[in-house]
Amino acid sequence: MSRLTRKITGSDLILFNVTFDMAILVCGATGFIGSHFCVLALQQGLDLLLLDNLENSSPKVLNAIREVTGISPRFVEVDIRDKSSLDAVFATNQVDSVVHFAGYKAVGESAAEPLRYYRNNVDGSLNLLESMKEHGVRKLVFSSSATVYGVPEFNPYTEEHRKRPFNPYGQTKSVVEDMMYDLCASDPQYALVALRYFNPIGAHPSGMLGEDPKGIPNNLMPFITKVAVGQLAELGVFGDDYDTVDGTGVRDYIHVMDLAYGHIRALQYLNSNAGYQAINLGAGRGYSVLELVSAFERINGVSIPYVIKPRRDGDLAAYWADASKAERLLGWKTQLGIDEMVRDAWAWQSANPNGYN
Ligand code: WQD
Repeated sequence: MSRLTRKITGSDLILFNVTFDMAILVCGATGFIGSHFCVLALQQGLDLLLLDNLENSSPKVLNAIREVTGISPRFVEVDIRDKSSLDAVFATNQVDSVVHFAGYKAVGESAAEPLRYYRNNVDGSLNLLESMKEHGVRKLVFSSSATVYGVPEFNPYTEEHRKRPFNPYGQTKSVVEDMMYDLCASDPQYALVALRYFNPIGAHPSGMLGEDPKGIPNNLMPFITKVAVGQLAELGVFGDDYDTVDGTGVRDYIHVMDLAYGHIRALQYLNSNAGYQAINLGAGRGYSVLELVSAFERINGVSIPYVIKPRRDGDLAAYWADASKAERLLGWKTQLGIDEMVRDAWAWQSANPNGYN
């Protein structure tokens, strides 16, 4: 493995030119992205306080984090919608900065239950920002999403692309970004970064940590791995009549460990840069559904039967990231490719057919 790849898989220490002298509060720490960030951050020697309400994740994720890192991190079961409990966390812990992964993230579900999404994603984030303000915590890395852009006026999306989310999920992310922007405008001491994720897939290379959606997966990669492990009969490909390389949807897939490393670099950035920044985290290239399926079959030697189905409401044909700002500001770009993404996704699912249960 290259030295940089070793770094982002946690098998090598990243030499920070700054030190973190107080805890980093990780909200949504037992979710897919949050747990992978925690593993990497703990292995870099960062002091974390993990927070989650366990609504969409298992407490067994904490065991997995401990098995991979050898560290039993501090954990508090708190719901960010409960402001008084959140305040108590800040009042009883020395918090240097916050990484905020906590939020609902299913696009279709957000259209069916918008108020639940606004309550959790927006009101919960407002509680967090208010608690930070009341306790003098002024550094935040926020898990945002490329869905804030909406229908592409141009590809690849740069951070200057106008924001016009067309589903409540993307709208909640956009609103939180605006709250962060306005807070920084009100007080120049704040250092707040919104990381706009593209399509995170894959898993920690150990196979002990991974994506574990409840029920039938909404997203493509976990659906593929459930077919591969025999729990689902075939993949439904949502449309093959888009104006793309093979007619199927094109997305910018990014390895979850690359994504986790981007958060580490963003925390380092916050230690010497105030103000608000929105930054794309993507690979800078797109793959179609069938290209991802082919890569999965080629690398893992597992056949994925599929059937073409009608387009899914709300889907876009193709989008991918211009990730040059992340490279410029954070010194970050993806290191892991599609082969590692499909390899690691399968390593997790084949070793854990029922996820954490
Ligand atoms: C990818 C492609 C589908 C499932 C969403 C959110 C985004 C992020 C990731 C949180 C599309 C096709 C999918 C299936 C398929 N979440 N597909 N059959 O919709 O690009 O992004 O999840 O941040 O914010 O918007 O991801 O994995 O659902 O779809 O053909 O069973 O796979 O049409 O082209 P998406 P996805």
